[in-house]
Amino acid sequence: MTSAAPATHSPQADTAEWWRQAVVYQIYPRSFADANGDGLGDIAGVTSRVDYLDRLSINAVWLSPFYPSELADGGYDVADYRDVDPRLGTLEDFDTMVSTLHARDIKVVVDIVPNHSSDQHAWFQAALAAGPGSPERERYIFREGKGPDGAEPPTDWIAAFGGPAWTRVPDGQWYLHHFAPEQPDFNWDHPEVREDFLTTLRFWSDRGVDGFRIDVAHMLTKDLTEPLPSKDELALIPQDGNHPTLDRDDVHDIYAEWRAVFNEYDPPRTAVAEAWVDRSRVPLYARPESLGQSFNFDLLLADFDAGQFREVVTDNLELAARSGSSSTWVLSNHDVVRHPTRYGLPRPERLENGRPAERHGQAWLRSGGTEALDRRGGRRRGNAATLFLLGLPGSAYLYQGEELGLHEVAEIEPGRRQDPTFFRTEGEEIGRDGCRVPLPWRAEGASLGFGNGHAAPHLPQPAWMAAEAVERQEVDPASTLSLYRRALALRAQWQTGEELEWLETGREDVLRFRRPNGWQVVTNFSGEPYPLEGETIALSSAGPTASDGVVAPESTVWIAPPDDQGA
Ligand code: NOJ
Repeated sequence: MTSAAPATHSPQADTAEWWRQAVVYQIYPRSFADANGDGLGDIAGVTSRVDYLDRLSINAVWLSPFYPSELADGGYDVADYRDVDPRLGTLEDFDTMVSTLHARDIKVVVDIVPNHSSDQHAWFQAALAAGPGSPERERYIFREGKGPDGAEPPTDWIAAFGGPAWTRVPDGQWYLHHFAPEQPDFNWDHPEVREDFLTTLRFWSDRGVDGFRIDVAHMLTKDLTEPLPSKDELALIPQDGNHPTLDRDDVHDIYAEWRAVFNEYDPPRTAVAEAWVDRSRVPLYARPESLGQSFNFDLLLADFDAGQFREVVTDNLELAARSGSSSTWVLSNHDVVRHPTRYGLPRPERLENGRPAERHGQAWLRSGGTEALDRRGGRRRGNAATLFLLGLPGSAYLYQGEELGLHEVAEIEPGRRQDPTFFRTEGEEIGRDGCRVPLPWRAEGASLGFGNGHAAPHLPQPAWMAAEAVERQEVDPASTLSLYRRALALRAQWQTGEELEWLETGREDVLRFRRPNGWQVVTNFSGEPYPLEGETIALSSAGPTASDGVVAPESTVWIAPPDDQGA
């Protein structure tokens, strides 16, 4: 087995193109590390873990929102775009975090949430106070209701978390919110809205932020000319750039302005779009004159299946090439059931009878985690998928805790849940709290080293998390953390040009590809071992004791590039 050298850089790491093949580690700040012991993770907590981040050989961290927020949607309801939530720290703490990470060559990406603000935002409060017809209401989307006294919403549209997409205010008008009622949609036809976001982008760029993740980047612009369509009519309108509310061509006018701001900086600030759009339209967001990169969630939506993985990779490399960008790969994030759990559930549950795959695991969650879950198998397949992903060209987005192989937490009492999805669907959808439980750093102590133990963590950590603690895993060469560290250190050395060549394996359930420098990745999706032809295995997701010469069932191996065979 190869012993990984200390972290080095991937290609382009020191250039303006650093993002092309970067490993970006997503931090959900309220659940990462709690420096002041109040039960909520904070900015100083991130700074305190810089050694840990450095040891992962990542190129960047992406922080989910840390702005002042009433937490109606885990911080994606922003009350002030240019400040830090006082419970998470101060702007000074933020600056310290940025300089500490930069000193280790780790870039900083922050989340921008432009479709909606919090209802606590000064502009929305001013809109409520100023009343119907006022200029203050123009920054959001207010309408009269229908029916004799306007008591019915303007349309029957449903919000993403369930329930109506319109909420009535005391003076009788209704406002639009595609997410929770506490998240009113902005009116992007308003010049002040446009200007204010440019100010926000400059504010964080001036503080040294290297890039931005753009929340629901495809939803900002809307054509709400009357008469508005019903929800059934809306669903039938093609999403070809002229849909009233989704993926409109004119959203790119906004991103062209943003691009001009990004290019004011050296190196230019980067952006990645969270855009749930038809695949043919992804390159519009990923073009250099738009946001420059767009998330590809296809691996996250795929089953652990050779055919699906190969198709996803082929399609997305082609899409990335079309846009001039690089692809992005994701298995887990703060919105979905963690991937070892998805892969550990019985197949029908994983496939969910044709329901959107992003809802994988909801039925299991509804059972409180008591239904069958193959924990070891899920983690085995999860680690195989991770090594497959890390071998691909393009950038890899990892979500905090996946390096510990954590499973989704199902055991959260209804009274402790936070996700608006849970409340707005009356428990039908359990939601996303189970992947947002604070990380276990130590095997003992009231909050397992997340805080100093004085206050309970804001979401409860189940007893089984102690066995997964960082302190346990870092001394165990067979742990998932050790696998991630070795893999990421090797990737930092071996990452190469953006091409990939599929090699014949003679088996439909085994994938093998080679990168331009000869680095090879072989993934065996089956339950039978797959023999190699004498190649030496540099790293195996089956662990350091996996037998040489074969790819173990449900595992991935890496074969070193020829000029690094002795590594
Ligand atoms: C996407 C974010 O990832 C999710 O967490 C959030 O709830 C919605 N956008 C609304 O901002």
